[in-house]
Amino acid sequence: MVTGGASGIGAAIVQRLAEEGAHVVLFDRNETTARATAETCGAGVRVAVVDLTDFARLGRLIAETGPFDIAVNNAGIDQHAFFTDTSEEDWRRLLAINLEAAFAVTKAVLPAMQKSRFGRIVNIGSEAGRLGSRGGAVYAAAKGGLIAFTKSIALENARYGITANSILPGPINTPLLREAVAAGGEKLLKVMENATLLRRLGRAEEVAAAVAFIASREAGYVTGETLGVSGGMGISQA
Ligand SMILES: NC(=O)c1ccc[n+]([C@@H]2O[C@H](COP(=O)([O-])OP(=O)(O)OC[C@H]3O[C@@H](n4cnc5c(N)ncnc54)[C@H](O)[C@@H]3O)[C@@H](O)[C@H]2O)c1
Repeated sequence: MVTGGASGIGAAIVQRLAEEGAHVVLFDRNETTARATAETCGAGVRVAVVDLTDFARLGRLIAETGPFDIAVNNAGIDQHAFFTDTSEEDWRRLLAINLEAAFAVTKAVLPAMQKSRFGRIVNIGSEAGRLGSRGGAVYAAAKGGLIAFTKSIALENARYGITANSILPGPINTPLLREAVAAGGEKLLKVMENATLLRRLGRAEEVAAAVAFIASREAGYVTGETLGVSGGMGISQA
C-alpha cells in the first residue's frame, strides 16, 4: 500500500512498485488523480479513496484491502510560514497527515506482517526532519517525529522479520514543490536548488528507486535507517 499515491512522489512509487510486480493499493483523497495514476500503472493497481486523517475509515479500508507486505507512508502536506504566523489549527492539520496518519497505517498493517513474519515499512520523511526548516517549523517537527517513530518500529519489530526505514527527499519537482514556488517566487526555487550539493531539483522517480530497493527482499539487512535522497543536502553546507 502507498499513501498519497495519486500524485508526485507517491505516484512514482506506485508506478515503480507496480513495474516490479507488486499488487498495489493506492490510498489518496483525490479520487480523480488517483484513478488516472492507477490507470497509467496497469491492472495491478487498485484505489482506496480516503482522507488519511479519518483514522476510523482508513483502518476499515486497510482491513478490507489488505493484508500488506509493504506499507509506504508517503502522503504529506507542507506549509510555508514563520512559526510566529502559525496557529494551533495549522499544527494539528500538519501533524495529522505528516505524522499521525503513519501511526494509524502502521498500527493497522503490523499485526498481519508480524503473523507472516515479513514486512517492509517505508516512511517518506524530509531532510527538514533532520536539518530543521526556516519557514517550516511544524512540518520539520512532524517529519523529525516520523524519523524517530520509524526507528522505534524497527527496534520493536526486527524479531518478526519486519524492517522499517525512512527516506528523506530533498527538493523534488512535484505539485507540492511547484505550489510552494508559485507562492514564494522563482527566488525560492534557486534557494532550494542551491541548498543541494548537486545544485538541482530531484525527480520523483529518483525517490521511487530508493523505495523500491528498501521495500525489496534484497534489503532484508537494512533497518532503522534514514536515507537522504536529497542531492547531498545534508552535507552541502560542509
Ligand atoms: N516535493 C518535495 O520537495 C518533498 C521534499 C521532502 C519531502 N517530501 C515529502 O514527500 C511526500 C510526497 O510529497 P509530494 O511532493 O509528492 O506531494 P504532492 O502534493 O505532489 O502529493 C501528495 C499526495 O498526498 C495526498 N494527500 C495529502 N493529504 C492527504 C490526506 N489528508 N488524505 C489523503 N491523501 C492526501 C494528495 O492528494 C497527493 O496525491 C510528502 O510526505 C512530502 O512531505 C516532498
